[in-house]
Amino acid sequence: MIPTDNGHNKSVRQRRDVGLQSFTLVKYFSFFALGAILIFTMILSWIISNNAKVVMLKQSEDYSLLLAGNINQQVFRRFVLPAVVRYGRIALRNPDQFGYLDKIVSEIVQGLDIDSVTIYDSKENVVSYSTLPELVGKRDRGGIEYERAREGGTNSRFIYSGSMWSLLSADPQISCQLRTFIPFRQVRESGEAGEAIMGVIEIAKDLSKDYTAILKLQARIMIVSAVVMLVLFLVLRVIVLRAGNILERRMVDRIRLKEQLDKTEQLAHLGTMVATVSHEIKSPLGIVRSTAEILKKRIVKVAPGNENLAQIIVDETGRLNTIVTEFLDFARPQQPKLKERNLQQILDRAIDFTRSMADKQEVEIETGYPGEAIVREVDEDMLYRAFLNIILNAIQAMEAGGKLQVETWQGDHGKTTISFRDNGPGMSEEKAAQVFEPFFTDKTKGTGLGLAITKNIVEEHGGEIRVESREHEGTRFVIIFP
Ligand SMILES: Nc1ncnc2c1ncn2[C@@H]1O[C@H](COP(=O)(O)OP(=O)(O)OP(=O)(O)O)[C@@H](O)[C@H]1O
Ligand SMILES: [Mg+2]
Repeated sequence: MIPTDNGHNKSVRQRRDVGLQSFTLVKYFSFFALGAILIFTMILSWIISNNAKVVMLKQSEDYSLLLAGNINQQVFRRFVLPAVVRYGRIALRNPDQFGYLDKIVSEIVQGLDIDSVTIYDSKENVVSYSTLPELVGKRDRGGIEYERAREGGTNSRFIYSGSMWSLLSADPQISCQLRTFIPFRQVRESGEAGEAIMGVIEIAKDLSKDYTAILKLQARIMIVSAVVMLVLFLVLRVIVLRAGNILERRMVDRIRLKEQLDKTEQLAHLGTMVATVSHEIKSPLGIVRSTAEILKKRIVKVAPGNENLAQIIVDETGRLNTIVTEFLDFARPQQPKLKERNLQQILDRAIDFTRSMADKQEVEIETGYPGEAIVREVDEDMLYRAFLNIILNAIQAMEAGGKLQVETWQGDHGKTTISFRDNGPGMSEEKAAQVFEPFFTDKTKGTGLGLAITKNIVEEHGGEIRVESREHEGTRFVIIFP
C-alpha cells in the first residue's frame, strides 16, 4: 500500500524537486545555448553582408581604376597631344577644345555602367571638365581625395545612405556611390605613365542596386535565422515541457516504489520474526490444550460442574491455534503443487463444507457452471482454501440471510473466470480497497488474514482477484486465471 499522509507526500515532493533540479539546469542551459546561437547567427550575418559589401567595393574600384587608366591614355594621346600641337596650350574654356574632349570621353564611356567622369585642374580644386555639364567650374568638390590624387595616390570615397531598417519603409531611401580619384598623368611614348601630373580624374559609379541587394541579403539572413531560432525555441520548449512532465512522473513513481520496497522489506523481516515466534508458540499451545483436556476429565471427578472452565481453555487454545496456523500460512506461502483438476469440483467441495452453516443463516447458494468441465493445472488444497475463505466471508456477511451466486465460465485463450456474488450488506469504497490487506477485519473473532491468504494463493497460480462492492447492494469477488 502507498501511504498517502501529508508528511510522506512532502518527502516525495522534496526528493522529486532535488531530482528535477539537474533537469532544470539542462533546460536553462539549452535555452541559453539557443540564445547564444541566435546572437552568433546575427553577428555572422552582419559579417557576411559586410564582407559582401567589401568585395563589391573592391570590384567596383578595380573597374573604375581600369577605366580611369584607359581614359588617361586615350585623353592624353587623342586630346592633349593634338590640342597642344594645334592650340599651343590646353584651355578647356575654349568651347572647341571642350567639345573635342567631351567627344572623346563620351566615346570611351559610352555603354559603360558609370555615372560620370570628371577631370580636375592640376593646380587648384576646380572642375575643368565633366560629363555632367553642371559640375564644370565647381570649386572644392574633390575634397581630400583630390589632394591625395594630386600627390600621386589613387583613392576612393564611398558615399552611402540608408541601412537595413530603411527596407522596412514603403519607399526605401537607399543610395550608394563610389567615387574613385586617380592622378591624370602624362603618357610616355612607350605607353607607360610618366611622372608629371596634369590633373585628377574622378569616376563616379552608382552602386545603389548592389548595395540594396546586400542589405536585402542581410535582412533575409537575419529574418530566416530569427524564424529558425523561434521555431527551434518553440520545439525545444514543447520537448522540455513534455520531458519535464515525464521525468517528474517517473521520479515520483521511482521514489514511491523505493519507499514501498523499503516497507515491504521491513514487513518481510517482521513477518519472518513473528512467524518464528508463532511457530515456537504452537508446541506449548498443543501441550496446554492436551493438558486442559486431561484436566477436564479429572475435574469431573474432583469438582463436578466445573468442567466448562477446562472446556474454555480447550476452546480458546483451539482458536489460538487456528490463528497461529493461519498466520503461518500467510507468512510462509507454500509453492503450489500443480495437478490437473476440475475447478467446479473444488468449488462444490467448498460449498458442501459450508452448506450447514449457510442453511442455518438462511443463505441460499446457487451455482452456474458451463456445460463442460473446466480443467486446469492447480493446487487443489490451496484453491479449496481460497474458495472457502470467500464463501465463508459471504455467508458471514449475510447475517439476515441472502443469496450467494457462484459462477464460472471459460473465456478466450483458456482464460477462466470465477465469480462469487452475494446480496449482503456490501462495503464502502474505502473498505473494499482494504479487504486484501493482511489483518484487515471488522469481525471480533477474525484474524483478517482470510482474503490476504486467498489473494496470495490466486497470485501464486498466476491469476488475479478483484472485488466490486456497493453498500446495501452486495459484493462480488472475481477470480481470473489467464
Ligand atoms: N462478502 C463480503 N461482504 C461484506 N464484507 C466482506 C465480504 N468479504 C469480506 N468482507 C470484509 O472484508 C474483511 C476482511 O476479510 P478477511 O476474510 O480477510 O478477514 P475476516 O473474514 O475478517 O477474518 P478471517 O477470514 O481471518 O476469519 C472482513 O472482515 C469483512 O469486513
Ligand atoms: Mg474471512
